[in-house]
Amino acid sequence: MYVLGLDLGTSSTKGLLLDEKGNVVATKSADYPILTPAPGYSEQDPSLWCSAAMTVMKEMAKEVSDFTEQLKGISFSGQMHSLVLLDRDKKPLRNSILWNDVRTTKQCETIVKKFPKIIDVTKNKALEGFTLPKILWVQENEPEIWKKTYHILLPKDYLRFFLTGTLHMDYSDAAGTLMLDVLEKNWSRDIAYAFNIPLPSLPALISSSGYVGNLLPAIKNEIGFKTDVPVFAGGADNACAAVGAGIVQTGKGMISIGTSGVFLAYEEKGKGYDGHIHYFNHAAENAYYSMGVTLSAGHSLSWFKDNFAPEESYDSLLQGLEDIPSTLFFSPYIVGERTPHTDSRIRGSFIGVDTTHTKKHFTKAVLEGITFSLKDCASLMEWLGKSFDSIVSVGGGTRNKMWLQMQADIFNTPIVTLKTEQGPGFGAAMLAAVGAGWFTNATECAAAFVEYGQQYEPIPENVEKYKKLYQAYKGIYEATKDICHSI
Ligand code: XUL
Repeated sequence: MYVLGLDLGTSSTKGLLLDEKGNVVATKSADYPILTPAPGYSEQDPSLWCSAAMTVMKEMAKEVSDFTEQLKGISFSGQMHSLVLLDRDKKPLRNSILWNDVRTTKQCETIVKKFPKIIDVTKNKALEGFTLPKILWVQENEPEIWKKTYHILLPKDYLRFFLTGTLHMDYSDAAGTLMLDVLEKNWSRDIAYAFNIPLPSLPALISSSGYVGNLLPAIKNEIGFKTDVPVFAGGADNACAAVGAGIVQTGKGMISIGTSGVFLAYEEKGKGYDGHIHYFNHAAENAYYSMGVTLSAGHSLSWFKDNFAPEESYDSLLQGLEDIPSTLFFSPYIVGERTPHTDSRIRGSFIGVDTTHTKKHFTKAVLEGITFSLKDCASLMEWLGKSFDSIVSVGGGTRNKMWLQMQADIFNTPIVTLKTEQGPGFGAAMLAAVGAGWFTNATECAAAFVEYGQQYEPIPENVEKYKKLYQAYKGIYEATKDICHSI
């Protein structure tokens, strides 16, 4: 028996097939482009998500002989916030405006002016990345499209609609639209009314492992499934990554380093933090998670390597950094910053350069700067009353042992890795396993499927060193803000 997780990402859709023991049986992926019709714009053609998912399933059927007989459920992980608008016939009206599109600063200001209590309801600030400002942009700039809009969805909901013919949105993704009453778990009538959004255009809400229907007969036949395949709602990519990393109980945090970086913590009780950090419904039942986002985490390192060490591999660039003293600072604000500064105009900096510094010093400073910026998110959570027994590190930050030790030292908390890391698709497949009845909830599934690898303990002398350096790093934002804003 198998379950399939489809992770609809920003550059590809990845499929991950699990057996009933949680073993990864096969992975497949299909890419698509990001369109940039103007600076700061980021869009995607929704039909490409559907064809990518079909390619993934067809490839799986070729590789795994009993895939078409033994698949017991499909679920999803999706890029958050990206806006999909459908007409009366449920056809996309325009390209999706993606989460990393920043054309909506003005609309965010309008939201705060018109609905000052938005944080009380949604528990989050109005940020360019979120869905509601994108809707307002379409209302203002493309009224003819808005007039034809009948349904508002997020990417994975559109893919699910394509596969099943049913329209839903799960709570973890709905929380990122800025239209959900996060604690009441329903669409906010007041927000919808204030911004002229007809309530029927918002889909039915459902839990992440909730059953939405079976694959449509045409899809079932095209892939060659021998039996009906049940489909379950799925969740936001960060929520699914958290499920897949076992972040389903209090005291556990997660560092995830991709292009952007995330520090995320499980939250048992619905309360929110007055918009200081993101606060969303979890894909695990009746839980929440808080999250801080560093916009350029892995991106800072890839930017540095591409420009200053294009001929070197990451392994060689990061080799020997243990012996390099920490005498240089880097702030990773190369495309602005979300948490804690919410400043799209701040830019990065190297501070303290001297004649002894080599490429290795700069590389170490980049890794430390990325880790300090994630520590900023954790510190904010600690200031808000949270504490962490252990932190699971996933993504790019796990590929180098020195960096993992640095994370343990900077966070002063044990850092654990996953035995085999698979990204949000693993959490999505786990949601399908819960939906299919293999487990009663995500916590039970995580206990059976999530296996941890190595643990890195903080080294007391490094902890002391980094405590001092972090205090200095924290001053960089204020010290460089005016200069950056004047550029
Ligand atoms: C979270 C966010 C990104 C996207 C990436 O608020 O904007 O992490 O979820 O898909």
